[in-house]
Amino acid sequence: MTDTAQQSPGSNKEAEAEERRTFLERAVRRGYMAWNALNEIVLGVETEYSVSGVGARMPGIQGVETDRSRYRDNVRYAPLDYVRLRRMMDLLAPGVDDVFYDLGSGRGRILCTAARHRMKRVVGIELFEELCVSARENAARVRGRQTPVDVICADVVTVDYSDGTIFTLHLPFGEATTRAVLQVIRDSLRTNPRNIRIGYAHPLYEYVFAEASWLEKYASFRPTDATNKNFWRSVSFWRNKSAL
Ligand SMILES: C[S@@+](CC[C@H](N)C(=O)[O-])C[C@H]1O[C@@H](n2cnc3c(N)ncnc32)[C@H](O)[C@@H]1O
Repeated sequence: MTDTAQQSPGSNKEAEAEERRTFLERAVRRGYMAWNALNEIVLGVETEYSVSGVGARMPGIQGVETDRSRYRDNVRYAPLDYVRLRRMMDLLAPGVDDVFYDLGSGRGRILCTAARHRMKRVVGIELFEELCVSARENAARVRGRQTPVDVICADVVTVDYSDGTIFTLHLPFGEATTRAVLQVIRDSLRTNPRNIRIGYAHPLYEYVFAEASWLEKYASFRPTDATNKNFWRSVSFWRNKSAL
């Protein structure tokens, strides 16, 4: 008897279903890539990992651990896809009085998209000088920019956020830096009480946010269970309970 003849009709169906799932996943991935490429052309920016091999040599893109990060838990550069990015901006609803910070801003994809909204200021914080240079170039040429962009080359835990009202994080670092930067933001609320909101994409250390009694989750999309294989697509949204 051949292997095929031994297979039960049930296992054939499972194999077909798995094949269909794989085909669909590939199609979605290609769709995301095409949508990202189209957005880059329309915006006039280059924020993918590697452009003509140049990006591939940037240490931030290789994700090397570095002494520049106090807790040495930096995550390698990867831009947020434009599908989630646009939806994230809708839920953060920036307005003219907002000051926007992207924590771990890489080549500036989030900064460039944010700066197309009218706000007071858009600021990126990034460890690696090469990525900062690239983000500044992108911010200078993005089409439809309405707000000035500053890029600060520093560890996020060393920055003064006392004017910040919107913060975004796309899985930029590990638990230690996440905990520390939330504390810095919280301290800034004592010196300048205000309402803030935070969008956290691929929220692997969301429990650190949940443990912070001064924060509450106000929205999320896609699976928020870290064991789900589509977890990387999720974004959660947090705000302070009251202006401290
Ligand atoms: C996953 S990428 C996100 C890039 C960008 N926010 C985006 O979504 O397009 C994370 C970025 O955070 C930067 N990063 C990691 N730890 C950092 C730290 N402690 N301070 C500043 N930037 C950091 C990394 O170098 C990397 O460029």
